[in-house]
Amino acid sequence: MTPQILSTTAAVDQVFLIIFGISLALLIGIAATMVYFSIRYHHRRHPQPTSQARSNLRLEITWTVLPTLLVLVMFYYGWAGHLALRNVPEGAMQVKAVARMWSWLFVYENGRSSPTLYVPVGQPVKVRLVSEDVLHSFYVPAFRVKRDMVPGMDNYVWFIAEEAGSYHVFCAEYCGTGHADMITTVEALPPADFEAWLTKLPVEEERLRGVDLLRAQGCLGCHSLDGTRMAGPSFKGLAGREVQVITDGQERTLRADADYIRRSIVEPNADVVIGYPPIMPSYAGRLSEEELEDMVEFLVKAD
Ligand code: CUA
Repeated sequence: MTPQILSTTAAVDQVFLIIFGISLALLIGIAATMVYFSIRYHHRRHPQPTSQARSNLRLEITWTVLPTLLVLVMFYYGWAGHLALRNVPEGAMQVKAVARMWSWLFVYENGRSSPTLYVPVGQPVKVRLVSEDVLHSFYVPAFRVKRDMVPGMDNYVWFIAEEAGSYHVFCAEYCGTGHADMITTVEALPPADFEAWLTKLPVEEERLRGVDLLRAQGCLGCHSLDGTRMAGPSFKGLAGREVQVITDGQERTLRADADYIRRSIVEPNADVVIGYPPIMPSYAGRLSEEELEDMVEFLVKAD
């Protein structure tokens, strides 16, 4: 980590404050001088001019050099701020922002994609800006970044979220009827939470993987997912369901939790659900420990 990074927010705010400060000083100075002069040199006090000045070299030099210096100071900070916005710090995370009429999609290097821009707190993020159709503009006021997204042109912004939180993202280029709907957020998460989010499979993908696993192991030949009664009880609504079982010839009621599900796979005849014949073979040794865990994890959430 490089703690010395000047954030885009700080870079822009610095220029803003300097220009604002100079403008404010000039406004007050000029207005005060004007008021003072109109009183001090009022025609009632000086009905006749006492002298006629033709030129004053010292004054000419002062009012040329001073404003030039002020403008150069503004230029210097403006240029430094521009460089800060364009030079991406080392170690920046890369994300691709795709804009299209009228939504956002953020694509990460590992292939994960999301309509919300999740980022880790404290790490610079470089956002590649890609438009799929017309002109859009990526605008995050909190980080002071705004950049046009031009079809066929590669562009980027970078920023660093210094605090966890939610920050608005707007499209700042009129792009058609849905322009106003192109709103999303940057969600800045603590690094560990971000890592967990980034590596987590999307829910739907996880579900499909679970179903694939059940099918591959032949489970779905006897257990339905939709509540249909087959040779074995359905998996539908298994999560937290109360089950009546026979254990060692004794009836008892259990809650379907991870332990129960695991036991039912490895030792299917330990607890036999009432109303079903004890015909299921044990899957001990037929599943790898990882597959078994995946299966239990999927079933314990089956609704
Ligand atoms: Cu996209 Cu406006």
